[in-house]
Amino acid sequence: MFMPQPQGMNDATLHDIPSILPGIQAKSAEIGFTMPSDLYIGTMLKTLMSSKPGGRFLESGTGIGLSLAWMVEGLVGEASLVTIDNDPVLTGIANEFFSHDNRLSILCADGADWITSYVGPSFDLVFADAWPGKYSQTKEILALIKPGGFYVIDDMTTQPNWPDGHEDNVTWLVDYLEAREDFVLTKMGWGTGVIVAVRVC
Ligand SMILES: C[S@@+](CC[C@H](N)C(=O)[O-])C[C@H]1O[C@@H](n2cnc3c(N)ncnc32)[C@H](O)[C@@H]1O
Repeated sequence: MFMPQPQGMNDATLHDIPSILPGIQAKSAEIGFTMPSDLYIGTMLKTLMSSKPGGRFLESGTGIGLSLAWMVEGLVGEASLVTIDNDPVLTGIANEFFSHDNRLSILCADGADWITSYVGPSFDLVFADAWPGKYSQTKEILALIKPGGFYVIDDMTTQPNWPDGHEDNVTWLVDYLEAREDFVLTKMGWGTGVIVAVRVC
């Protein structure tokens, strides 16, 4: 069961929209990008990341950089962020918007290959917004999260763009996460349906 939408929450109540976001939204409309992250997950990511000064962060599914615009604003101190997408057109656009920021690594790679071959320090927060790290390589990406670190996903309540049968994938993922004794999670029915899980051991 997902908790219902908080009363009084809408776009007009968000006062910290990143200045770079309107340009990315315009580009998204121009190319007809059909998988945009919404403002609500963006503001949550920024808030959670801001709790980890100097943190290391990972996004699977750069897309056109809508969520990235918020995540960048959650980088505090010496924090850094890796984001991955397998579409070179999208990573090219993201690079146009963010290439000035040396705290970011925007990688054009298959997420499944990257997650399974990654060797390096673990992460303080992972936003899994592509199939890899969400519906595949789930165990592997959770293993990359530090104790006290967050795993964040959205699109968990039924969306108009879901392909037939996608409910089964979502049910599997929620059941899998709830069965993990090393993660504590909250399911929230606002935005597109959000889960925030924290690694406890
Ligand atoms: C929901 S969209 C991400 C939206 C993005 N967070 C934003 O705010 O713009 C999912 C993204 O996953 C990417 N993707 C799909 N399969 C992938 C894979 N195997 N490896 C890496 N990225 C993949 C798609 O190209 C798409 O941009």
